Amino acid sequence: MPAVKTAYVCQQCEASAPKWAGQCPSCGAWNTMVETVAAPRSTTRAPSAARAMAGAASVVPIAIVESAERARLTSGIGEVDRVLGGGFVPGSISLFGGDPGIGKSTLLLQLAARIAGQGSDVLYVTAEESAAQVRGRAERIGAVVGGLHLATTTDLDTALGAIEAARPRLAVVDSVQTLASGELSGPAGSVGQVREVAARLAEMARTSGATVALVGHVTKEGTVAGPRTLEHLVDAVIYLEGERLGSTRLLRAAKNRFGSTDEVGVLEMRGDGLAEVEDASRFFLESNEAPTAGAAITIALEGTRPLAVEIQALCAPAGYGSPRRATTGIEVNRVLMLIAVLARHAGLNLTGHDVYVNVAGGLRIDEPAADLAVAAALASSLRERPVRAATVLAGEVALSGRLRSAVRAERRLVEASRLGFERLVTGPSRGTGAGDGAAGLVVAPDIRRALELTLES
Ligand code: TYD
Ligand code: MG
Repeated sequence: MPAVKTAYVCQQCEASAPKWAGQCPSCGAWNTMVETVAAPRSTTRAPSAARAMAGAASVVPIAIVESAERARLTSGIGEVDRVLGGGFVPGSISLFGGDPGIGKSTLLLQLAARIAGQGSDVLYVTAEESAAQVRGRAERIGAVVGGLHLATTTDLDTALGAIEAARPRLAVVDSVQTLASGELSGPAGSVGQVREVAARLAEMARTSGATVALVGHVTKEGTVAGPRTLEHLVDAVIYLEGERLGSTRLLRAAKNRFGSTDEVGVLEMRGDGLAEVEDASRFFLESNEAPTAGAAITIALEGTRPLAVEIQALCAPAGYGSPRRATTGIEVNRVLMLIAVLARHAGLNLTGHDVYVNVAGGLRIDEPAADLAVAAALASSLRERPVRAATVLAGEVALSGRLRSAVRAERRLVEASRLGFERLVTGPSRGTGAGDGAAGLVVAPDIRRALELTLES
């Protein structure tokens, strides 16, 4: 094998250096230098004459270029295709990240089988499990289909060779952390190796037109490898999330060169793989029993999709020391802010209480429109008064205690009534106030008034 020169590249500023250093000589960041191949094939410079010719050959009128959008490779699993922006774009590389055991291999094997079932050749490169193990999973989820091939290797060049030889429409590589290039000294899974694996596969996708789907485990720090290491090497980063013990799985795009990053897919892990959730917007509601104290329902917007979600709060008398505040599915600082606003502007003092807030169904909510439901759940728990029946809340709470309506309140109201709710409590709209009179919309100027209108007496 020809000796390959390695170099070091800073993950932060991309500067390269011949020797490793604890601090990047270019941007000064610490511990960001990782080993890489000195002259990756893709960046080898052509002599100028050849470069000019290559340049001339690649200039074409835009009118005759075939759009990548047209030839999307769809799996037929709607929840997944939607998050991808309408399916995989040929020649693109997507990274599927998630905690170990969350269901990445299951999902990718299902996608592989669906696409193979439509008559496209698919190659599943397994570096983590044996072919027999993959076959076992395939039997369980009905993925033993013609056109789906397996290759078992942990060597990057062997994997690339297999893809080149098989010329599949889709190549799944499971996982980026278990393949390694013999050209680098670091072990599989090291940042340098992970970068190299992703870069070489991305190059292969571009040049061969095969779609590559790469599996990556998320580390304790919540990324696939080093901060942002892979994000700029791939076209799309899709995360599969959920609580391991629960069965709900959410698919979210953190980056998508070919689609929006707003869409969320809702899936459920069953005995025979991941299934699409029917009527996802109802999925995060707990049972339809009579309202209990400490629960409030909001209509969250995940991308363009409204989802009814139950927010649960528990305020319990605290023991000695500072009271506990713990949350799942929502930023704890947002809840701390709401606790302060409730104390100052609604006469609800929680200083002597432990506070727990939970978003039902394993969903994570980031939008401020959830404020009002969180505040209502807290007030409902503290006062032991349930939220009125058939009522949902969506609105932003300001530090002053005043409310603002949620963005796209009409869209949420429509969904709320479709699900059988009778009123949506919100704040005054930001614009002209037009629409504030819509049937079912209950507009309150501030948090105190909203709670009066919301909690049962
Ligand atoms: P897996 O796809 O191996 O996760 P990852 O590749 O992200 O590490 O799936 C792991 C879990 O999913 C495993 O604990 C078993 C469960 N599972 C099901 O519940 N149903 C199924 O049909 C399959 C294949 C797995
Ligand atoms: Mg796996």
